[in-house]
Amino acid sequence: METIARLGVVGCGLMGSGIAEVAALRGIDVLAAEATREAAEAGRRRITGSLDRGVLRGKISEEVRDLALARLSFTHDLGNMADRQFVIEAVAENRDIKTNVIQTLDKVVADPRAVLATNTSSLPIVDLAVATERPEQVIGMHFFNPVPVQTLVELIPALTTAEDTLDRTRRFATEQLGKVTVQAPDRSGFVVNALLVPYLLAAVRMVESGSASAEDIDRGMELGCAHPMGPLRLLDLVGLDTAQAIADSLYDEYREPLYAPPALLRRMVAAGRLGRKSGRGFYDYSA
Ligand code: 3HC
Repeated sequence: METIARLGVVGCGLMGSGIAEVAALRGIDVLAAEATREAAEAGRRRITGSLDRGVLRGKISEEVRDLALARLSFTHDLGNMADRQFVIEAVAENRDIKTNVIQTLDKVVADPRAVLATNTSSLPIVDLAVATERPEQVIGMHFFNPVPVQTLVELIPALTTAEDTLDRTRRFATEQLGKVTVQAPDRSGFVVNALLVPYLLAAVRMVESGSASAEDIDRGMELGCAHPMGPLRLLDLVGLDTAQAIADSLYDEYREPLYAPPALLRRMVAAGRLGRKSGRGFYDYSA
């Protein structure tokens, strides 16, 4: 059976750092890449902070944390991905940036069998696949936030993806990363976001129209439907800019009003109220 010993993760934001952390904890050598030295350092701090919290909460021992940290290295040069057997890109949800990254990886990663996976939430996998010379080895691998907690990974083969790539990616996700997979169609939003995003946007419209407060909407869904967090708290976790980008892709694909980002969401993004990561979204995190 194939074992991935050397993983590359491109992008060290919320998702990339979570993916890198999970892989390192499960014994895989991980090279994490960011666009600049500063961003790579911020990625290292994010993962170290998360592992430290794991120690503080008694989830992992100091020894396990140190072993995971020793398996992680950081770079701001994608050229260093040459020896990777499997690479997951998790850069910003932007078509041009993702295309550029996947094309660079295609040129740089030396192993012709290496899989190039994209953690896009909503862009067509086939567009990224055909931008490379190995469209049969490009696949969607959609993780959920926070990656160390959420067990699901959606696997999205494009029309060009080989059956063998799907099998190898499924085995890597389940046997090595310890995740549970579902197969999803190469349609914007796949399975989960196609259902989740209209619900999140409906909650924003409810706030926008003044028919209920953010707190009451969240309390309603948390206590009424046993969701771990209500839709507005969840938007703050996901990031309002990311949510807007996903809604734009969904609307672009389906042209259904339920996917159209409400004006309030756009205005909050324009104002820099992106949720937890910027200190303010529907709630204030500055304290
Ligand atoms: N890393 C590791 N563990 C973490 C963690 C992290 N970043 N964040 C939370 N945890 C663990 C805690 O250690 C704790 O474990 P324990 O119960 O064994 O002690 C457990 O998760 C609960 O954490 P907290 O007590 O700190 O806080 P909450 O109980 O409020 O849970 C939450 C926080 C895990 C975020 C929970 O509210 C939740 O699951 N929310 C829903 C998240 C969700 O729906 N995600 C999907 C978003 S959609 C998406 O990602 C797709 C994209 O394309 C948009």
